[in-house]
Amino acid sequence: MCGIVGGSSKRNVLPILVEGLKRLEYRGYDSAGVAFTANKKITQVKTVGRVADLESQLKKSDESNNGIAHTRWATHGVPNTKNAHPHSSLNEIFVVHNGIIENHEPLRNNLIAEGYKFISDTDTEVITHLINYYKNAGHDFDSAVIRAIKDLKGAYALGIIDVNNPDFVIGAREHSPLVVGEGIDENFIASDVMALSQVTNKFKFLEDGQIAIISNDNIEILGKNGAPKNIATQEIDSTAYTNDLAGYSHFMEKEIFEQPTAVSNSIEGRVLESGPQEGIFGAGFEEALVDISNIQIVACGTSYHAGRIFEYWSHKFLGINCRVDYGSEYQYQEPIKTQKTLLVTISQSGETADTLASLRFAKKTDNPITLTICNVANSSMCRESDYTMLTNAGPEIGVASTKAFVTQLSCLSLLLLTLMKINNKPENSIKKISKALMDLPKNIQQTLEDLEPYKKVAKLIFNKNSALFLGRGMYFPIAREGALKLKEISYIHAEAYPAGELKHGPLALIDKNMPVLAVVPDNEHLDKILSNIQEVAARKGRVFSIGPISKTEITKEGGHINIPKTLDLLNPIISIVPMQLISYYTAIYKGTDVDKPRNLAKSVTVE
Ligand code: AGP
Repeated sequence: MCGIVGGSSKRNVLPILVEGLKRLEYRGYDSAGVAFTANKKITQVKTVGRVADLESQLKKSDESNNGIAHTRWATHGVPNTKNAHPHSSLNEIFVVHNGIIENHEPLRNNLIAEGYKFISDTDTEVITHLINYYKNAGHDFDSAVIRAIKDLKGAYALGIIDVNNPDFVIGAREHSPLVVGEGIDENFIASDVMALSQVTNKFKFLEDGQIAIISNDNIEILGKNGAPKNIATQEIDSTAYTNDLAGYSHFMEKEIFEQPTAVSNSIEGRVLESGPQEGIFGAGFEEALVDISNIQIVACGTSYHAGRIFEYWSHKFLGINCRVDYGSEYQYQEPIKTQKTLLVTISQSGETADTLASLRFAKKTDNPITLTICNVANSSMCRESDYTMLTNAGPEIGVASTKAFVTQLSCLSLLLLTLMKINNKPENSIKKISKALMDLPKNIQQTLEDLEPYKKVAKLIFNKNSALFLGRGMYFPIAREGALKLKEISYIHAEAYPAGELKHGPLALIDKNMPVLAVVPDNEHLDKILSNIQEVAARKGRVFSIGPISKTEITKEGGHINIPKTLDLLNPIISIVPMQLISYYTAIYKGTDVDKPRNLAKSVTVE
């Protein structure tokens, strides 16, 4: 979950590396560093904190044609300069690393026995010494890298430079993403295309086990054993990868307001009033899914919550058994052979290590039909799944997922409609849902018109220590997503409960200092959840409710936020927007770093 960038150019590469790091800060921001070749030596600059701090530490006179850079999300070793990347071996080999080396301890012990001294607490330092070790044993720079990575167990994307080969940068990947950017008189490596979209729109996507040797006029890709590999260059629309605030104060705010357009982009051309279009999940999807008897969803965090809503849809509208697991759990369960299963991975980034490992685990153990619902074309999940539906949300920079969630749910609605069609469900139901889905951008837009109610709730809760979120049925995952949003950006402890479960324990927590946010549906659960709200109010709990009902005041002290009413199955998608905004304003009133909350990173590429 660190970001790496490296490049070799005929011009000064340092501003390009720093800009690349700024675009990668979503992957981690505990510390940052750069190493570059100049005057027959390698200079490194490292700092705790943000890329902007690193930039201010670089001297105006610093110039280089070759370098590597890193922004860190700490795994091994606290965030300090000693642990910041790049790491060097005897000031000769410098390495930046994203991932975790699982066998770093035995490797470290062997290298210590060989006389190498370790100065950091990181797992990465073993890689630098290992390459140095193989160079000293007689290997060239590139063959020393190939030999060294054979000893590594775990996940890595690497950028490596060598003082004796000042015109080259070597990249390598195994279970962590790495792209090669092709420029004119310059070439690059980076964790994602966004890091390089200011310099090129031509990319090669490395596969696991491959290494890239780049100089300003050449790119050589090699396989695990050093055999040359041909990878096609793909042109990627770089205008889709801007990371500009467009007048908003934070990316999270911008991304919340982009939701109507994002949902439009994710359904446009895929659904008409008559129903979903053929082939929107890829050619042959409909034929492949005839007779599926199980749906298994695997995802993490916000994407997991989207999956949990689909679980309700699948049971109610398809009668197909659907199970949803966290990526970190699914991959370690006993493999069970199922009959014709559709495995759906949901991921904004397409690189989340736990979800990706689960996809690989399922392919090995149960051989299901695999579909990924993902926001990043060419990500590992897209490349490794049989079928893909891109969410088309556009880049999501804020660590707290917002537009990724609503677009995942839009795509899952398309999956529901496609499966309804395959399973001969009534045409009028398909048409009704399709039409409502097409109106969703408009419904979401309405929730963004008056921000005062959200600010009012935020003002009442920002100084509290905890909050409880309640929901029932398919609104329970919405309550969970609301709680996740509040806790991750405002650091207020927030827990979600199925409303009916309150009296089985959590009611003991209720007093005037415990705000309760309840999602109220306009369905068969309404009366029950209103009773649950009364149970809270009777104990002086302050209840804020959100839902498509016109009750203006549910409790005197709290209040009700009315949202547009659509079909019950789509209303959860609308009801998350007020929760996102309440969390956003709560964080603003608390003064936390909204886009880069402490301890978190946008893309979690370690297990
Ligand atoms: C939520 O706001 C977080 N960003 C996090 O829970 C995220 O949804 C999770 O890490 C999964 O990421 P993915 O969608 O990229 O796989």
